[in-house]
Amino acid sequence: AVKQRVFSGVQPTGVLHLGNYLGAIRQWVRNQEEYENFFCVVDLHAITAPHVPKELTKATYRTAALYLASGLDPARSTIFVQSHVSAHAELTWLLNCATPMNWLERMIQFKEKKAKQARGGALRVAGGPFVSPVGVLPPQEEKSDGESCGVGLFDYPVLMASDILLYQAQLVPVGEDQRQHLELTRDIARRFNDQYCQNKQRKTFVEPKALIQTSNARVMSLQDGKAKMSKSAENDMSRINLLDTPDEIARKIKRCKTDSVKGVMYDEARPEANNLLGIYEAMTGMSRDEVAREAEGWAGWGTFKPLLTEATIAHLEPLQQRYKEIITEQDYLTKILNDGAEAAEKVASRTLIDAKRAMGF
Ligand code: ADP
Ligand code: NA
Repeated sequence: AVKQRVFSGVQPTGVLHLGNYLGAIRQWVRNQEEYENFFCVVDLHAITAPHVPKELTKATYRTAALYLASGLDPARSTIFVQSHVSAHAELTWLLNCATPMNWLERMIQFKEKKAKQARGGALRVAGGPFVSPVGVLPPQEEKSDGESCGVGLFDYPVLMASDILLYQAQLVPVGEDQRQHLELTRDIARRFNDQYCQNKQRKTFVEPKALIQTSNARVMSLQDGKAKMSKSAENDMSRINLLDTPDEIARKIKRCKTDSVKGVMYDEARPEANNLLGIYEAMTGMSRDEVAREAEGWAGWGTFKPLLTEATIAHLEPLQQRYKEIITEQDYLTKILNDGAEAAEKVASRTLIDAKRAMGF
């Protein structure tokens, strides 16, 4: 049988964290055999926030190396960098002209990120310099509302739609935060097909579906039970990065926000407990039921936190080991990304030509 096609990506900003890993990358790896896979480091997306040019390439390599260290296999998945395949930018322009403005104005992430950038760059450590996820920025003024972000931030979902649609992907494994963007991608595909492919035997675009897991689809910040764990959060204590040292992991879990309820157990009303128990499941490979049973024997957070710390360190250790090996093999990594771009380009350029023909070019 023909395998269904998967596309997904992560931005090369900062270091990937447990949210990216559990929400997205782990399911890419797990389903690698079942699908035909395209996994992209979406560097064009990363420049929608203030960034430091010389840090971008480094972050791109780091992200690709983390893909491999997490278990993506170049023999079974096409792994590449978005900016290496020019069709992404080109299709974005075509789709920009086929996407109503108010569809983008509705996007929740745009509103959130715009507000954040208005507060001064991507992030600002209290009183300190402006720090973007990819390096320290030169000092800047507070910006007026109209200048607080670039057009790219607003247009980000159209670039994301192009990423997916170029590969005719049926499935897009992402975290919960991307659900709205996936809906938009479907709407854009349908609108384009309706408008430009009426008399054609085959529509230009496949309408993709989001693949969102039932557990760990939204890993929460360790400091704020209402926010998702994110690369762009000001406070590094809010996330566990995949490359954190054992000491850092221990410190972050020790200081993470908890509640004052007795015992630790799954409970709708206890977001911190649910979040950390979910992470514990993933780190130990235990089922929810198994964790619930084990938790009955815990006196409280004081028992649970060291167990979670130990499990997290143990789970990440082999990944970090592989990362260290891969990141020093620049030539190996470059070869994989070059081969990946070549393979991706073949598929993407076919879709691009089709889209251009449909529009009359
Ligand atoms: P970030 O939001 O940290 O900058 P990206 O926007 O690059 O990360 O997202 C990369 C992938 O990781 C997407 O599939 C996204 O849904 C997923 N993801 C990001 N944060 C989380 C989270 N806290 N929980 C689950 N999945 C997440
Ligand atoms: Na995101």
